[in-house]
Amino acid sequence: MAKTTISYACSSCNYISVKWLGCCPDCSEWNTFDEQEKTKTKSPSIIAASTLHSLNDISLENQPRIMSGIDEWDRVLGGGIMPSSLLVLTGDPGIGKSTLLLQVCNALAQKNNIFYFSTEESIHQVKQRALRLGCNSELLRFSDNPDLGAITSTAEQHQPSAIIIDSIQSCFIPGSQSLPGSVGQLREAIFQLMRLAKEKGITVIITGHITKEGIIAGPKTLEHMVDGVFYLQGEDQWNTRILRAVKNRFGAINEIGFFEMGEHGLQEVSNINAHLLDDISHESGASLISIMEGSRPLLLEIQALTIQSKLAMPQRVVSGIDHKQVILIAAILEKYLHIKLSTHDVFCKVSGGFKIKGSSCDLGIALALLSSYFQQPLPEKTIALGEISLTGNIKPVNQINLLVREAEKFQIKQLLVAKQQKIEKTTCAIKTFHHVYELLTLFELS
Ligand code: TYD
Ligand code: MG
Repeated sequence: MAKTTISYACSSCNYISVKWLGCCPDCSEWNTFDEQEKTKTKSPSIIAASTLHSLNDISLENQPRIMSGIDEWDRVLGGGIMPSSLLVLTGDPGIGKSTLLLQVCNALAQKNNIFYFSTEESIHQVKQRALRLGCNSELLRFSDNPDLGAITSTAEQHQPSAIIIDSIQSCFIPGSQSLPGSVGQLREAIFQLMRLAKEKGITVIITGHITKEGIIAGPKTLEHMVDGVFYLQGEDQWNTRILRAVKNRFGAINEIGFFEMGEHGLQEVSNINAHLLDDISHESGASLISIMEGSRPLLLEIQALTIQSKLAMPQRVVSGIDHKQVILIAAILEKYLHIKLSTHDVFCKVSGGFKIKGSSCDLGIALALLSSYFQQPLPEKTIALGEISLTGNIKPVNQINLLVREAEKFQIKQLLVAKQQKIEKTTCAIKTFHHVYELLTLFELS
């Protein structure tokens, strides 16, 4: 006879306890334990053995990817959707997840059979959205039944190419004691969908809620189990939405796609650098840099403001860059150029509300700080690409040729780089630097 036992699982590290605990003994997180049910069945005395294969026996069917024709989506997914994959799209409420998926489904349904299970909104609300977006595919089928059992059996019966579940947190598993959206149910739901994807060959795309810390809601195991996790993020300006791959078994991570939310849904922004460059100021305190986001080079402006501080402890206000990186560069400039940044308030940000990482923007940050300090603009149409070491040396950056090719497209005239930087033939003038003290040659000092 089947016997049901209750145990408690930590949503952070999956530690299992027989009783509820306030603090997880494994990962030390608080309030992470959720109830889960386990049904024990008496194991049969003879268990069938697995069939083992050698590498030569395993045939690789070259399954074509499912392309939507929405280039920004297809690229972020690694060149279209891999059939039989289980993917999660997550992001803040109202950011446009349902809108994006409906548009993608409409495009996919021109050639594929797609079922859209809207577990949060009624089919009437979905119809209103579809009208607004101009969706008209005849092959797209909708349901607002949130019962996961019904969803999987519908999919098994009709074998569509892909199903969409918007959202996984509002599905419920019939017969389960735990609440919809609870950790136990989420884990169970993902497990069932994983089997549907892998055993029946049906692609499953789900939307997932995000916590206030900005991470996907639910147990960490959820992210481990699925094939891909994609975040739709918002930027401050021009209603821009960035689709970012943070996990992708079938493509590169950190790949990004740009969209703009308009009256009729999300429009692709394929020429994002033209948008970014439209917005730059070319004034004192601004420097241009270029960084790789996934496979895409971005041209961004770093803006700095340095001003004599009236406070005993001068302020350091930084957004879009790691603030320790800015403090470090300010200290290097102070040490080697003898400029008194420690008595100045320093403000630093990246144009367009972007968040950038990595040391390749060190030189750009240093030049923005110096440009503001000396109140002199940097040369026009000039990009700075270099890392700065603690000893003040300027070091080469990776993938420079891709960055340079993109810069050339936007009529960038000059590159400021490290002395050892190797660059393929370019139409841009190149000015090299060995040490930060040489940066002073860019400014007129009285
Ligand atoms: P939605 O896709 O419902 O967000 P999510 O599923 O991530 O919660 O998007 C809702 C927001 O998008 C809402 O604020 C209205 C806006 N929107 C537009 O600006 N234009 C449109 O064409 C649509 C459909 C929505
Ligand atoms: Mg939604």
